Amino acid sequence: MTTMSTTRTRGPQRSGDRATPGIDPLRGLTAAEIDATREILGEAGLLSEQTRFVYVGLDEPAKPDVLAGIELPRIVRALLLDRVTGASADVRVSVTDRSILRRDEIDGTNGQVPILDVEFEAIYDLLGAEPEWHEALAKRGITHEQVALAPLSAGEYGFDAERGRRVIRVLAFMRNDEQDHCWAHPVDGLCAYVDMIEGRMFELVDHKVYDIPVESGNFDDPEVQGAPLDTLKPISITQPEGPSFAVEEDRVSWANWRFSLAFDAREGLVLRRIRYVDADQGGVERDIVYRASIAEMVVPYGDPSPSRFWQNYFDTGEYVFGRYANSLQLGCDCLGEIHYFDATIADEFGHPRVIPNAICMHEEDYGTLWKHTDIYTGSNEVRRQRRLVISFFTTVGNYDYGFYWYLYLDGTIECEAKLTGVLFSSAYDPEAGDHASEVAPGLGAPYHQHLFSARLDMMVDGVTNAVEEVDAMRVPMGKGNEYGNAFTKRTTRLRTEAEGARDADPVAGRAWHIVNTEKRNRLGRPVAYELLAQGSPTLLADPESVIAKRAGFTRKHLWVTRYDQDERYPAGDLVNQNPGGDGLPRYTEADRSIDGEDIVLWHTFGPTHFPRVEDWPVMPVDYAKFTLKPYGFFGRNPTLNVPSSESLGMACHTDAAGDGCQCEAGACTCAGHGHGHGHGA
Ligand code: CU
Repeated sequence: MTTMSTTRTRGPQRSGDRATPGIDPLRGLTAAEIDATREILGEAGLLSEQTRFVYVGLDEPAKPDVLAGIELPRIVRALLLDRVTGASADVRVSVTDRSILRRDEIDGTNGQVPILDVEFEAIYDLLGAEPEWHEALAKRGITHEQVALAPLSAGEYGFDAERGRRVIRVLAFMRNDEQDHCWAHPVDGLCAYVDMIEGRMFELVDHKVYDIPVESGNFDDPEVQGAPLDTLKPISITQPEGPSFAVEEDRVSWANWRFSLAFDAREGLVLRRIRYVDADQGGVERDIVYRASIAEMVVPYGDPSPSRFWQNYFDTGEYVFGRYANSLQLGCDCLGEIHYFDATIADEFGHPRVIPNAICMHEEDYGTLWKHTDIYTGSNEVRRQRRLVISFFTTVGNYDYGFYWYLYLDGTIECEAKLTGVLFSSAYDPEAGDHASEVAPGLGAPYHQHLFSARLDMMVDGVTNAVEEVDAMRVPMGKGNEYGNAFTKRTTRLRTEAEGARDADPVAGRAWHIVNTEKRNRLGRPVAYELLAQGSPTLLADPESVIAKRAGFTRKHLWVTRYDQDERYPAGDLVNQNPGGDGLPRYTEADRSIDGEDIVLWHTFGPTHFPRVEDWPVMPVDYAKFTLKPYGFFGRNPTLNVPSSESLGMACHTDAAGDGCQCEAGACTCAGHGHGHGHGA
C-alpha cells in the first residue's frame, strides 16, 4: 500500500466538540452513517460511475480511548475499486465531522481489495466471449450453455503474466438444468485465468480431459432423498414466560452476563464487552473479553493438480463473508424463543443493505449443571445448565458456515463453528496420488483444511493481562515420589510475542491461562480465564509454500500480541493476491512484551477434512470449537444460587410422567422410558 495525499493521526482522534455524544463508540454502522459515507466520498470527488464499494465498516477507535470514556468521532473505513481502471483505495471518512481523514491508494503489489459480486457475475459472459474456452468445453463434449462457473480467488504465485493484474481463476461445473446441483459434475482438468480489469481470459490451463461424473447430487430432490423417515415426532421448545434475556438495541443481559454485539461485513458477528455480574463481589460487572470475532478463515486444499493447486480461500479477507449472512428462519435455523438482530451493511454501490434476522439469539437447556446425592446427609440437589446462544450462518460458495457463541451460567464462553453445505468436488483420479476421497462414482472431494482465526481481545478483570501455558507433567519416581504416582503441572509465562506463538498439545492437556497480573482472587492467586484448544492440525502445506506465507497465522494454534488498534486481521488487511508475510507474522516481528500488558489472543482452530462418503451430496454439520473457562476468576462455583427446576415451577412430578418417578425434596428419580423423566428432570 502506498500512502497518498494523507496524514492520519493515530491514537485518539478525539475531537471534542465534533464528537458524537451518547453513542457507543463501537456500535455497528447505521444506515444513516453508510449513506453519509457515500455522500462524503462523492462530495470529495472520490467516486465515479465505475466505483464499487468493496467493504464499508466501522474504523474502531482505540481501546484505551473507548475505556477512558472519551467521546469519539464515528469513523468509517471504505475500500473502493474502480472497475474500469482497477484503481483502488482505502479511505477513512469521519461521518461525525463529514470529512475525509485519510486516503491510501492501493497499488496491488501487497494485495488487492476483496472480490466483488459484480465481478463474479461478469465471469460467465466474459468467458463466453473466448473461443479457446468454447474449444476446451467442446473437447469434453459440452457447451458453455451447459456450465456453471466458480470464480475463485487466485492467490499470488509470482507468475509473470499476473504481475499487476487483478486475477480470478475459474473452474467449470456442468448442470443438466437450472435445478441441477452442479457440484456433482465437475469439468476437471480445466481452469481459466481471467484479468478482471481487462475483462478477458489471459491463460487457460487445460491439462487433461476427464469424464464428467454423472450421478445426481440433488439432495433437495425427493427422488434422490428416498422415502421419508416417517417415525419422527415434532420437538417444540416452549418458554411460557418468555426468554430470560433482555435486549436494549445492541446490548444484552442474560443471567449474570452482560455484553453488546455488532455485525461487520468482513467478520460477521462481533461480541463486545463480555462481562459477568459477580454476586460474590457485590454484583460488580467484571470484564472478560473486550471484543471477540472470527477475524479470518482460510480453506487450503491439498490437491496438487495443475488445475487446482492454487485453491486456498480466505473467506473473510478475500470474500468478505459477513455480507453473505443468511436471513434465519424461526423453527428451522433456530428453535425456541428467538430474538433476531438485523445486520446493516453497505451494498456495492455504497447504499445501506439490511440483512433481516442475520443474528439469532436464544436460550438453551444444556443438561446438568451440577448434582450430588450425599450419602451422609441425604441431601439430593441438582441444577440445570443453560446457555445463551448467539449465532449467524454465512454461505460462501459451496460451503455454509455457522458461528455460534455460547455463554454458560458458570462463566464458560465457547465458540463453535459449524461446517455444512456441499463439498468442493473434482474428477476422482486414482493415478494422481492420494489427495482426494471418492464420494460418488468418479467424483472426488479434495482433502482440505478449514482454519479459523478467532481474535480474542481480552480484558480479564481489566487490561493488564498475561498468558501462562499450563501443561500436565509426570514427576519421575524417586525421593519424594517413591511410589511414582505423582504428577503436577508446569506453568510457563509467555513473556514476548515470539514466545506467544504456540501450538496446542492435547497429550499434555495444554491450556493457556489469561491472568490478570494485578488482581487476585480470595485465595491470593491471579484471577484467570483459560483457553482450551482442540489442537487439530495446523497448516499442513509445506512451510515454504505460497499458502504458508499468505496464511502465516495458520502455522500456530496461538498467537499473543500487544493490543494495537491497527492490527485487526490475522492474514493482513488486503488478503486477496497478497504475496504473504502480512498479518500476525508481521505484527509480531517487533517481539513486544505481552507480560502484564493489554493483549490480544488469536486462536487458530478448525478441522482437517478428509471428506467422507457420508459428507456427500450435502454434508452433515461438522464442528470445531474452543472454550474459555474461568480459572480462579471467581472465588468459588459461581452457580450455587441458580434456582432448582422445582423453584422455577418446572419440577418433575409423577402425575405427568405417570411411569414411576419418585420425587422428594425437589429431586426425582424416574424409572422407565424417555418421557418419564418429566419436566426439568
Ligand atoms: Cu471441509
